[in-house]
Amino acid sequence: MQGVPQPAFYIFKCQQSAPPGMPKPSCVSQNDPESAQLFQHLAQSLMMKGIIGTVQPIQTGCLNRCQQGPVMLVEPGHTMYVELTKEKIDRIVDEHIIGGNIVNEYVIADEMWGEAIPPSQMAR
Ligand code: FES
Repeated sequence: MQGVPQPAFYIFKCQQSAPPGMPKPSCVSQNDPESAQLFQHLAQSLMMKGIIGTVQPIQTGCLNRCQQGPVMLVEPGHTMYVELTKEKIDRIVDEHIIGGNIVNEYVIADEMWGEAIPPSQMAR
């Protein structure tokens, strides 16, 4: 008998919002009303396409790439998408999540997303 299937993808959408007056940018900003609607847009889009069960959207705190926000991380693959809009999310769902092709033009620049340092090298 088959067990409950794992999700094929998790999508971690940064929902961090900086308090008013904070100079640091944040992925959800009072100055950009669309930024507050992006998670809902993502979830609705997955629902409308019938893939919400196998694709799990997650609201998360700061992913530490605030200057490039709004951002979201797609796993597996460690793919960080930046400067999101509703239109970009639609393309990512269609081309990456359903189609299997990363939308390279929306991916974070290499110099901002270098190779990970294995914890075994950091541990003391
Ligand atoms: S506030 Fe979204 S990455 Fe920091």
